Amino acid sequence: MKTVCEILGCRYPIIQGAMGVISNPEFVAAVSEAGGFGTLATAFASSVDVLHQQIKETQKLTRHPFGANLQVMNPLTEQFAELLAESGIKTVTISGGSPKALMPRLKSFNMNVIPVVPSVSVAVKSAALGVDAIIAEGSESGGIQGFKGASTMVLVPSIVDAVTLPVIAAGGIADSRGYRAALALGAGGVQVGTRFIVSRECIAHANYKEAIVARTETDTGLLNMGGFQIRALRTPLTEKMVNDPSLLQKGFSGAGIEESWLQGDLDAGILAAGEVIGLIHNVLTVREIIEEMIKER
Ligand SMILES: Cc1cc2nc3c(=O)[nH]c(=O)nc-3n(C[C@H](O)[C@H](O)[C@H](O)COP(=O)(O)O)c2cc1C
Repeated sequence: MKTVCEILGCRYPIIQGAMGVISNPEFVAAVSEAGGFGTLATAFASSVDVLHQQIKETQKLTRHPFGANLQVMNPLTEQFAELLAESGIKTVTISGGSPKALMPRLKSFNMNVIPVVPSVSVAVKSAALGVDAIIAEGSESGGIQGFKGASTMVLVPSIVDAVTLPVIAAGGIADSRGYRAALALGAGGVQVGTRFIVSRECIAHANYKEAIVARTETDTGLLNMGGFQIRALRTPLTEKMVNDPSLLQKGFSGAGIEESWLQGDLDAGILAAGEVIGLIHNVLTVREIIEEMIKER
C-alpha cells in the first residue's frame, strides 16, 4: 500500500483541510512550502475563471504539489475537475456526498481521489469505487457535517479495520500529541482545519483568530441547517439562531461569511471551528505548526 506522502507527493502527511474563502493561494502555498499538503477550496469559487486564477497564483508561489477540494453538490464541480486536471493538479478531496458520479472523469484524468467520510459504511462504499485514500472526519471537526457523526477516536480505527487503503484522520488535531495519536490509531496522515486558521498566513480576520484562542473545548456547538449541520463557535448570533432558524441561511451565505471570517464582524455570520479550539493558544506560522506536529517526542 502506498503511503500518504507517496500519493500526495509531499514531505509530511499533513493535509491542510479546505476551508472555504480562507483557503487562498498564499495560505495553500505556505502549507505546501512547509512540507505539508495545501488544499484550495472550491466551495465559494463563483466561476471557473476565479478558480483558474487561484490555481495560477498558487503555482506561482510554490513548486510543491497542492490539491483542491470538490463539493459534490456544486453544479460547477465537473468543470472545476477538468480545469484542475488541465492545470496539473493531481489530487482532489471530495466532500458533500459520494464521489461515484465523478469517479470515471477523475480517473480518466489520472487524479488521486480522496473522499471525506463520516462513517465505516461510507468508507467501504467509497473504497469499492476505487478511491486512493480515505479522510475519516470525526464529529469534533469544524465545519459542515451530517447528523450521524462519530468522533475521531472511534471513527479512525473503525475505518482502518474496514478498508485496505491509507486513512487520513481529520478532526481534533492541533499539535504533535494529536498527530501521534492519529498515527497510533492506524492513520497514515492527518487533515487539519481549525489549527491552521490561527496561523500567521491565514487571511481569517484577527477577531476570528482571537475568538478561537480565547475559547475552550466546550465553546463550539452543532447548528442544524436543515440538510446538514455546522460545527461553529458559540456566539451571541448562534444562540439567536437556535431560537430563530430563519437567521441561519443569512449567517452562512457568502455575505455573512465574508463579513465575519474576513472582515471580523463576529455577529455577521457563522464562525466554523472545531472542538480543538480548546488546544489553540497562540498564532503561529504554518511552518511552526507543521514542525511542532511532526517533532520527535
Ligand atoms: C472554517 C472552516 C471551513 C471549512 N470548509 C470546508 C470546505 O470548504 N470543504 C471541506 O471539505 N471541509 C471544510 N472544512 C473541514 C476541514 O477541511 C477539516 O476537515 C476539519 O476542519 C478538520 O477538523 P478540525 O477543525 O478539528 O481540524 C472546514 C472547516 C472549517 C473550520
